[in-house]
Amino acid sequence: MTDTPGTPPRKRLLIRTWGCQMNVYDSARMADVLAPLGYAPTEAAEDADMVILNTCHIREKATEKVFSDLGRLRETKVARGGQMIVAVAGCVAQAEGAEITARAPWVDIVLGPQSYHRLPEMVARASRAAGAVIETEFPVDGKFDHLPEQAAPQGVTAFLTVQEGCDKFCSFCVVPYTRGAEYSRPAAAVIAEAKRLVALGAREVTLLGQNVNAYHGEGPDGGDWSLARLLLALAEIPGLERLRYTTSHPRDMGDDLIAAHRDIPALMPFLHLPVQSGSDRILKAMNRGHNVADYLALIEKLRAARPDLALSSDFIAGHPGESDADHRATLKLIEDIGFASAFSFRYSARPGTPAAGMAGPVEEALADQRLQEIQALLRDQQYAFNRTRMGLDIPVLVTGPGRLPGQMAGRSPWLQPVHFVAPGDLTGRTVMVRVTVTNPNSLGGEIIAGQSPPVSERDAA
Ligand code: SAH
Ligand code: SF4
Ligand code: F3S
Repeated sequence: MTDTPGTPPRKRLLIRTWGCQMNVYDSARMADVLAPLGYAPTEAAEDADMVILNTCHIREKATEKVFSDLGRLRETKVARGGQMIVAVAGCVAQAEGAEITARAPWVDIVLGPQSYHRLPEMVARASRAAGAVIETEFPVDGKFDHLPEQAAPQGVTAFLTVQEGCDKFCSFCVVPYTRGAEYSRPAAAVIAEAKRLVALGAREVTLLGQNVNAYHGEGPDGGDWSLARLLLALAEIPGLERLRYTTSHPRDMGDDLIAAHRDIPALMPFLHLPVQSGSDRILKAMNRGHNVADYLALIEKLRAARPDLALSSDFIAGHPGESDADHRATLKLIEDIGFASAFSFRYSARPGTPAAGMAGPVEEALADQRLQEIQALLRDQQYAFNRTRMGLDIPVLVTGPGRLPGQMAGRSPWLQPVHFVAPGDLTGRTVMVRVTVTNPNSLGGEIIAGQSPPVSERDAA
């Protein structure tokens, strides 16, 4: 392949992403920052001039995957005669930089989540350096101020990080150590990025943060803006039809944010609000800063503000000190609330966290059994929730082709995948679909003629 003089030589970049949506967002930004150096995406490690593993440290399993992947990459790198830059980014890089370079000396770059804007410079240094180039500081200036504007479109649904880091220090969690202290991006920067995403084709934007509802960014008016204020401003952007935000902490669910669920039609009626446990004793040991009654009262307020609000949560089974009674209290909380979906995990002891040293560790087999009970209940609830949509006419944002020929796929307001037969490519449009099929994990339906924009209108637009 010949390269045009003046443009950087074409190189191939593979980014593998684990962990939360913030890592997904960060991976897209790393691709953006490397594009001017000539890096274009590839799917295969064998073809890659550079491989970035964007890693997650939240549970032991996630961390171990990184090291097994690094083992395979070593062989690929050798097969390419060493002509491959291997970089480890994300939360494992932040927490275990030294261990990575000791266990995998073929790694060229180790960079923590706050250093992505420095990637180009690190790539240049890596080509000269004998050992690995490491950046795991928490610089005082925000990484967002130094990242280029988003270049690659994310699609009809897009992520936008508005807040990063966490000051809550839940007993079990590594995030305050890997992502650092809470930081909120200025509202003007968020609004500008949202407008760019819409110009690139996004119709739904999910605001991201480890504690997104603790957002308190500088407003364009110089004042402190809450997440509710930010959502109000974003709802004004033409073409931005749907807004979501994740992940929230029950303690930061302010009255103005609850009111936003009543007042902003674009704010979708689905909220992920992790509670972790249904036992006051365990919530205290977890340092969550609220009890079960607080959570139930909060859910009541939210449902009063937005009666069709569907709820989702995270649960941990087997936190140190958890008794059978505590576990049953969690099952009861789940039954009392009724979740539309939820994530649940077996407790994983993380080095350096307070819970790792707590008395009363729960045996793995018992924690697994509890987890299975929690998951069985949550699965039933999800299916039950999906069945409540049967026969309803619901607005579906079309995200792309479905699995079967002639089908399109989209998203319901409650984050359910929806499949239906469409007269043509309706990607990016919101159509009315009558639900005729309910599955445990998705819905199926028929497009309602007359209530949905015809395909030809799209072509005319
Ligand atoms: N900021 C979010 C959670 C981020 S981590 C919040 O406060 O809810 C995502 C989820 O991973 C958590 O909600 C928790 O359920 C789970 N998790 C975190 N640390 C864990 C650990 N050590 N073991 C098992 N699950 C864990
Ligand atoms: Fe972790 Fe708790 Fe912070 Fe969530 S609020 S990121 S669980 S420390
Ligand atoms: Fe994992 Fe870091 Fe996200 S530990 S869950 S990638 S903040």
